[in-house]
Amino acid sequence: MLGGAAALLSLACIAGTAVAQTEVKIGYALAPNSHYGVAAEKFDEVVSAETDGKFEFKHFPSSGLGGEREVIEGLQIGTIEATIVSSGTLANFVPETGVFDIPFLFRDLGHARRVLDGPVGQEILAKFDAVGLHALAWGEQGFRHITNNRNPITTPADVAGLKIRTMENPVHLEAFNTLGAAPTPMAWPEVISSLQQGVIDGQENPLSVIVSVKLNEVQKYLTLSGHVYSPAMLLVSKPFWDGLSDEDKAAFEKGATEAATAMRGFVDDVETSGVATLKERGMIVGELSTEQKAAFQQAVQGAYETYYKTYDKALIDRIIATK
Ligand code: PAF
Repeated sequence: MLGGAAALLSLACIAGTAVAQTEVKIGYALAPNSHYGVAAEKFDEVVSAETDGKFEFKHFPSSGLGGEREVIEGLQIGTIEATIVSSGTLANFVPETGVFDIPFLFRDLGHARRVLDGPVGQEILAKFDAVGLHALAWGEQGFRHITNNRNPITTPADVAGLKIRTMENPVHLEAFNTLGAAPTPMAWPEVISSLQQGVIDGQENPLSVIVSVKLNEVQKYLTLSGHVYSPAMLLVSKPFWDGLSDEDKAAFEKGATEAATAMRGFVDDVETSGVATLKERGMIVGELSTEQKAAFQQAVQGAYETYYKTYDKALIDRIIATK
């Protein structure tokens, strides 16, 4: 009898694997034609090719599953399988992640990519398994710049009292408070309507976001401040990850690596073309000179005292020392 039951079970399994695909709901904040959309598409394509279509990706772009924090919580409880997110709320899950949000930490995109792909970045990725998440790869958004409707910005005094939306990120909040602005942490899905209604004067995001979301429709001034690098991350749910075979895990790892490369390629392109696009769309664009940027760096120094209390100075020094 036992033999018969086992045979029936294996028949059912064979029939099941022949027809059933495992659904992978992937949520992200931006549109399909953004750096996130391009990465999600590549992730889907590679995993599908590597597993002969065993997984069916269902895409939820433009915050279709909620804000980034809500989506990450969905991953933890296993109701959402995958996401691509900024570092906005990641420090609320793995505090060490916040070290990358320190203003003026990275010299350029190459420096940031070498740190994230090197030992420091990989050590931080590994910490996500302890909080119900599995981090597959670092992607990126680029360097963040300030947009607003109140005035052009060339000196720290120009941001005094500016009602600026920040991500729900304590490191960014500290920086804008130190600069004398009036920062409001806010989930991304509320930002456009808050700008339209004048609840906030401005926000800050990389060119990749400003261009794809068409922030020019609700913002007049763009200041190329490059005040902080904005990493992104490809994450899957730990309960989902633990249920995968080793072959499937390898397919997801390959997919995430290729997705991150596609995302960085997209960012490289928009870093080259984005300013011209936004000027054509009517934005008034100003770039901080080296001296003007140094003045912002100086004005934000006070925040470093807090950062050194939160993050190991040796870790910050290791990042700065990365060639
Ligand atoms: O500003 C943010 O919250 C993020 O940069 C965004 C636009 C949601 C992309 O991850």
